Amino acid sequence: MDVEKIIASMTLNEKIAFCTGADMWHTKALKRLGIPAMKMSDGPHGLRCQEDKTDFIGINKSRPATCFPTAVTAGATWDPELYAAEGAAIGFEALASGVSVVLGPGCNIKRSPLGGRNFEYLSEDPYVSGKMAAAFVAGQQSTGASSCVKHFAANSQEYKRQNGDSRMDERTLREIYLTAFEIAVKEGRPDTVMCAYNKLNGIHCSDHKELLTGILRQEWGFDGTVITDWGATHNRIAGFRAGCDLDMPGGHRFMHKDVLRAVRDGSLQEQDVDASVRRVLRLVKKSAEQKKVSFDLQAHHALALEIARQGAVLLKNQDNILPINPNEAVLIGYMAEDIRYQGTGSSHVNPTRVVQLTQAMPDTPYIPCCDSYGEVTPESLAQAVCAAKAHKVAVVVAGLPTIYESEAFDRANMALPEGHNRMIEAVAQVNSNTVVVLLGGGPMELPWEKQVRGILYMGLPGQAGGQAIADLLTGVANPSGKLTESWPYTYTDVVCRDTFGQRNPEYREGIYVGYRYYETAKKEVRYPFGHGLSYTGFTYSHLNVTPKSVSVQVENTGTVAGREVVQVYIAPPRGGIHRPAKELKGFAKVPLEPGQRTTVTIPLDSRSFALWQDGWVVPEGTYTVMVGASCQDIRCQDSIFISGSTLSVPQWQKGSWYETLRGLPDRKEWEMLMGGPAAEYPPLKKGTYTLDNTLLEMQEDAAASRMLYRLVRFAIVRAHGKNADSPECRMLVETTADCPLRGLVISGKGLLTDGMVKAILRLSNGKKRK
Ligand code: BGC
Repeated sequence: MDVEKIIASMTLNEKIAFCTGADMWHTKALKRLGIPAMKMSDGPHGLRCQEDKTDFIGINKSRPATCFPTAVTAGATWDPELYAAEGAAIGFEALASGVSVVLGPGCNIKRSPLGGRNFEYLSEDPYVSGKMAAAFVAGQQSTGASSCVKHFAANSQEYKRQNGDSRMDERTLREIYLTAFEIAVKEGRPDTVMCAYNKLNGIHCSDHKELLTGILRQEWGFDGTVITDWGATHNRIAGFRAGCDLDMPGGHRFMHKDVLRAVRDGSLQEQDVDASVRRVLRLVKKSAEQKKVSFDLQAHHALALEIARQGAVLLKNQDNILPINPNEAVLIGYMAEDIRYQGTGSSHVNPTRVVQLTQAMPDTPYIPCCDSYGEVTPESLAQAVCAAKAHKVAVVVAGLPTIYESEAFDRANMALPEGHNRMIEAVAQVNSNTVVVLLGGGPMELPWEKQVRGILYMGLPGQAGGQAIADLLTGVANPSGKLTESWPYTYTDVVCRDTFGQRNPEYREGIYVGYRYYETAKKEVRYPFGHGLSYTGFTYSHLNVTPKSVSVQVENTGTVAGREVVQVYIAPPRGGIHRPAKELKGFAKVPLEPGQRTTVTIPLDSRSFALWQDGWVVPEGTYTVMVGASCQDIRCQDSIFISGSTLSVPQWQKGSWYETLRGLPDRKEWEMLMGGPAAEYPPLKKGTYTLDNTLLEMQEDAAASRMLYRLVRFAIVRAHGKNADSPECRMLVETTADCPLRGLVISGKGLLTDGMVKAILRLSNGKKRK
């Protein structure tokens, strides 16, 4: 396939059309020029390859595939090699199904514990997110498949994910929200990147030239293809100019004529269209050269099990209550027979099998106690109490039911179902050896924490999750996962609590995300970033720090084999431009037999000490390099002088929130950080609506939209029948009724045209005729 020759023989019409997909999952084939179609599928923790009915929110069936643990669990392994193996396994499954591009990994930052898609993301920290994502990509692409790093960028909430505006200062963007992508792109070298739905500082990511060309291509050297998130195209002309190559899903002609006109009148350069065609063609060319492969389903299940075991985090193990003897225990809680092992949405996999905890521990008695919503009754509680009294150990399985978190909507709060709390408290009251297993995509409030002896957090552990829980509870496996997200006591401790979940979120906390905030503000958390216990112990010694590396000796001092995640944090020199008290700059996971010791060497470079000030700069001074088992459990440290630049501290910083971290940053202070007045958004009302508004937004005061909105809602709810309160139904309502009008053309499978949505818009704005 000679890409240049093909471009030379394409008409302008063909070129424009070629940069929009053919349908939900394919690019267009052009028989005349010998161009085959190319298939894409989700996703980040297993293949979602659909054949018949297609959708981009994970509702219709897909081919059975291995459902690996979701990123919350995979991230907690802190093991890039293991995650690379997962990437490769998904790559093989993709190629075997004729899928060329896998839509993952996701490396958005977990800004708030309430992010509905946090389970699909790796961490609140950009360094560990980036390193893990890069490994996944490299592993996956070693099979010949292509990865798609998503969602670029600043897509950290679900509310108004399709038209909200993420506002932040340049430093925060660079240090927190872009770094993971930067590492994934530079080190993993993905063939594709997916641009996010949202706006970034007023510009839709699909139109964002600075983001897609300036930063991604020119600064980071990305030479692959940018694909839109499904329905993210805002303005196709701006998209071509920005370097947004492939508009997905396809099957529509959104703005086709406008692009044609723009090229003809010279407002869009044909070479911008050619550049996108070239990048899509190169991808298609690679895909045409891919070979079908076979793979070992058993081995993939075993890999899913290993990741779940290594990604589980032992949060608490008072008096070494764990591991337990399964013959002395009882399992309590419905989630033991129906574990939550994945999330709802486009990442939803049709698993090849699922191992429940009750199946993995068949000889241990089991009492459901609650239903799938987490509800209990006085009778069910009495039964659980009776069973708990009769056994030496009570293992209660609890967590977030599916309706609590999903793509398309955020969590309402950090609480567990009331029934789960009551179940745990009732059991703990009669059995002092109560252990809780938690399943869910992120931190939860644990009001009963002091009353139980052990807590094992599994995240969403994939199809082998039940086996992994059993192995960890009984000591067949030793926990070695560490949190990649801080666990605050309650949601009121979260620094972005007032600004997260707004229509146009203001990232006022700046760089103080997760542990960067808690550690700097000296605010106690329930479990710190990096925390995770083991059935053995490790000591650290012989620290040696240079500007290029940190080496330390780690020894397993216990009686069982284990793995330690050695973490390197760096604290800045005193004074100077405000910076977090410490930041993760390196890590390594080391397996050690009992009594074994090894020297671990973790590389550093100038970025380990740098901050963003119109470019990466290293402030000169004495840094503290800390090595520890969590961001709080620092085992040894040393200081080192690093030469660099002398930066002047801006006047506004003195005494501001960014220096004191007392209370919450107010708008005025944030404006100082932003370097100018914050954007004001005119109120939404009839007469001001654009194609970027949604039926849900316009229905308030526009009868035409109200009618359509109700119709859409009614049709979706009706189609779901008994399952109208399922997360899938809610997700569908949110993604359709709250989808910008332009998105309805794109994702409406050709049912709605530009003309039709423009007519809806005119009517909603109260104008009858053109
Ligand atoms: C999601 C993407 C996904 C795409 C295709 C979108 O709704 O945001 O993550 O890859 O659908 O299913």
